[in-house]
Amino acid sequence: MVFRHKHIIALRDLNKEEIELLLSTAESMREINGRDIKKVPTLRGKTIINLFYESSTRTRTSFEIAGKRLSADTVNIAPSNSSATKGETLADTALNLLAMKPDIIVMRHAVSGSHYFLANKVNCSIINAGDGAHEHPSQGLLDMLTIKDKFGRLDGLKVAIVGDITHSRVARSDIQGLTKMGSQIFVAGPPTMVPPGVEKLGNVVACGTMKEAIQDADVIIMLRIQQERQGKTLMPNTREYSRYFGLNPVNLKLAKPDALVMHPGPINRGVEMSSYVVDGPQSHILKQVENGVAVRMAMLYHVCGGGSVE
Ligand code: CP
Repeated sequence: MVFRHKHIIALRDLNKEEIELLLSTAESMREINGRDIKKVPTLRGKTIINLFYESSTRTRTSFEIAGKRLSADTVNIAPSNSSATKGETLADTALNLLAMKPDIIVMRHAVSGSHYFLANKVNCSIINAGDGAHEHPSQGLLDMLTIKDKFGRLDGLKVAIVGDITHSRVARSDIQGLTKMGSQIFVAGPPTMVPPGVEKLGNVVACGTMKEAIQDADVIIMLRIQQERQGKTLMPNTREYSRYFGLNPVNLKLAKPDALVMHPGPINRGVEMSSYVVDGPQSHILKQVENGVAVRMAMLYHVCGGGSVE
């Protein structure tokens, strides 16, 4: 099967077969990551610009590592020390970068939909590393890969997503991807943090309590409170939030005994999850990060047209 997309902006734009292709390619890429010499010539001569308008540890670093492992030349731009601080617009920044002939721009931006805007202005590939509260497709893919590693499948699973659903691009990409792959999603969070009509995003059940969402769940995905996107206080205090929507060793027992615990990071320990759970045997949080490199290698590889991987 050939991947027909030039850009990867949202999992909403991909069908089940395309998601399966990205996941199976990521599984192959993992073999490279396990070698002593973790480098193949697949993207030699390609130039990738990582343009991150918002802070990032995991996504930016793993896109850079992914590009380097495929032998691409990778360049990182932090707008805090670029001409964006002098008022240059996103479109002008993109056109100037384009004059340097990159093959891929990987961008994170606070504005939802900014990647579609950019994709209409440039002739290189655009990969979304997170846009506002819209989507974070590479996170959605690495979450699916981590779940598939554990269960060998994605269909028929009960996946709970708990926390600040309204402001979470991770929740949207997880819902889009997992719904297409046949999982059922149960969301829970403070009423101020669950968008009305969330059921319409996919195969989603909106739960009144966290207990309802995580009861007999196969997978629990905990979300960070996105204070930077909330604009106003949406909860009385973090202690109360933690009491009703935090995951701890006691309420974790409501889920299936081998339930997978995940979090996209960064984690507020003691708020959305207790350290006992973060560091406990059911936590696959660092496995998610490990899978992030392979998934991003697969994304870079396919937007460049695929081909042989040595
Ligand atoms: N999960 C995630 O997007 O983490 P970063 O913000 O560190 O990239």
